[in-house]
Amino acid sequence: MKRKVLTAICIGAVLATSGCNSSADTEEDTTVAVGAEENRDEGDTAPETAPSSEIDGTTETEESGTGSNGDVLVAYFSWADNAILEDDVDAVSSPSVIPPGNVQQLAGWVQEETGGDLFTIRVTDPYPSDWDACLERANQERGEDARPELQERVENLDDYDTVFLGYPNWWYGVPMPLLTFLEENDLSDKQVYLFCSHGTGGLAQSVELITEAAPGAVISDNIFDCYEEDASSSREDIQEWVAGIGY
Ligand SMILES: Cc1cc2nc3c(=O)[nH]c(=O)nc-3n(C[C@H](O)[C@H](O)[C@H](O)COP(=O)(O)O)c2cc1C
Repeated sequence: MKRKVLTAICIGAVLATSGCNSSADTEEDTTVAVGAEENRDEGDTAPETAPSSEIDGTTETEESGTGSNGDVLVAYFSWADNAILEDDVDAVSSPSVIPPGNVQQLAGWVQEETGGDLFTIRVTDPYPSDWDACLERANQERGEDARPELQERVENLDDYDTVFLGYPNWWYGVPMPLLTFLEENDLSDKQVYLFCSHGTGGLAQSVELITEAAPGAVISDNIFDCYEEDASSSREDIQEWVAGIGY
């Protein structure tokens, strides 16, 4: 639809947000990206995206194996875990819907490095696997400030002191199910580290929205963010970020 137009609009943001960053060492880049996003028309203009590549990833809630670090939860939302994949889905126009999703891959690598438990945030009513249809529903949910129903809550949330929370930028913010997750799973007093994959829009308003939905959480400003086309090659970068935090 309007993706080409947006490419032009967002060229500055591309320069600011391409590649993978952690705010610890690229604070200025992130600030530029947020600023650029704020200046964009937030009407019905479709957000920008680009293809991701494929590797295998984990999608189930699971206990990690040997070396499990019981107090770490790695929770994430990814389109590929939240869509019914139709046989005729177009991998070019609907890129990251084909597993593994970008955030799904990042989450798997965070889990590897932390030894924590992986939790995929899943809605009861999956999104369309067609790009335009998914955009439309996501935009409608955003307009309604909806809280899409989730399949499950985190069991034994009290066991976790630290939560790594991964998400894609959806419509200059977060997928609305992420807000459902934050409202149903109280992260108060837990240390939260955010990681995000996005198109040319960067983090946009996502951190503000998360902070508002989880007022008691201790959200670090050391955030890992990754341009969508770089997600599949970001294993080393995100694991370095996790190691830098102390895992
Ligand atoms: C419904 C929808 C809305 C999106 N909105 C934005 C946006 O506003 N800005 C942006 O930079 N990227 C946007 N994107 C692109 C995704 O953030 C990006 O492709 C991300 O890497 C997808 O991660 P995933 O594969 O784990 O879902 C959007 C993608 C979808 C499906």
